[in-house]
Amino acid sequence: MSPHLDDPAAYPAGDPRGLRELVRGFPGQVADAARLAEGLRLDGGTPRSVLVLGMGGSAVAGDLVQALCAERAPFPVVVVRGYGIPAWVGRDTLVVASSYSGQTEETLTAFEAARRRGARALVVTSGGELGACARREGHPWIRVPAGFPPRAALAFLLIPLVVLLDGLGAALGGEQVREEAVAVLRALGAELVPETPVAGNPAKALALELAGRVPVVYGTDATGPVAYRWRTQFEENAKVLALSGVLPEMTHNAVEAWGGGAGTAWAVVFLRDRGEHPRVARRAALTRAIVEARAPVREAWARGEGLLARLLSLVLLGDWTSYYLAVLRGADPWAVEILEEFRRRMMAAP
Ligand code: PA5
Repeated sequence: MSPHLDDPAAYPAGDPRGLRELVRGFPGQVADAARLAEGLRLDGGTPRSVLVLGMGGSAVAGDLVQALCAERAPFPVVVVRGYGIPAWVGRDTLVVASSYSGQTEETLTAFEAARRRGARALVVTSGGELGACARREGHPWIRVPAGFPPRAALAFLLIPLVVLLDGLGAALGGEQVREEAVAVLRALGAELVPETPVAGNPAKALALELAGRVPVVYGTDATGPVAYRWRTQFEENAKVLALSGVLPEMTHNAVEAWGGGAGTAWAVVFLRDRGEHPRVARRAALTRAIVEARAPVREAWARGEGLLARLLSLVLLGDWTSYYLAVLRGADPWAVEILEEFRRRMMAAP
């Protein structure tokens, strides 16, 4: 029998290492993280382009920065998850190497290629080889605190980068926008913690809805990267396969499959945002009507005014939802044994 989410004993039993305390701390981490940018100088003025290199939990910060910059910054932000870098990277590109551990081979390899091209460099890591490289070569280094699973260090990977890009002319709204995000996250966080019963806790309610089904998460416009974050949090925390996608794109392909009959037990969450294009809102309504014939559907609306608050409010809801799903399934939400074993095997391989 699965544990009851309102039973306080379910948490120390299901989450012995205490991932819940890190998720609970997210609003405070967002408040605190800007100080990691203090004293860092990025020379050279506004870059022509920004390339963020990262994998997994460390790449998500890049996705969010890309979404935040999309309609504001005078430069494009591109995220690369892999070993190579695009041909256009050069001296006027700011390359951000984001790796929580500082040991991720794809990121280290791509970063080396970017340095060979003469790109401007910024390092975001807790240490490892990447930290050693920053120290050796004198690159500006956002020093992320150690001891977190990478996916639980999102505030530290993201916020200092937002601060520094703002300083380079990204027009992300400065301190005011970050303060609003913290206020929104604190209010929402109180609703989502284990002490709040199912009846008033949207994350617990969603987890119960998703249990035993394949979660499918769709974002709309700017919430697309958050949908992907939800998916990867379901995969790593709850150890369930999940799908994600984004509107309007999925209305040009995936709706066909939904209309055709999806034989599995799916459950769908749409991540909605008041900033979405009105035609996207229309598409969301049409899509919902198609999908509802096949699967239970829920909508989660972003909270807050600024885009940072809106995106992070959905991130926090997804983090808690994946956490509760892990507890329901009896999966240790902190452990990622297969990822670690995979990393070891790759290090041993020639
Ligand atoms: O969540 C995780 O542990 C992974 O997705 C890692 O973030 C990923 O393997 C990359 O490692 P790092 O974040 O240390 O660069």
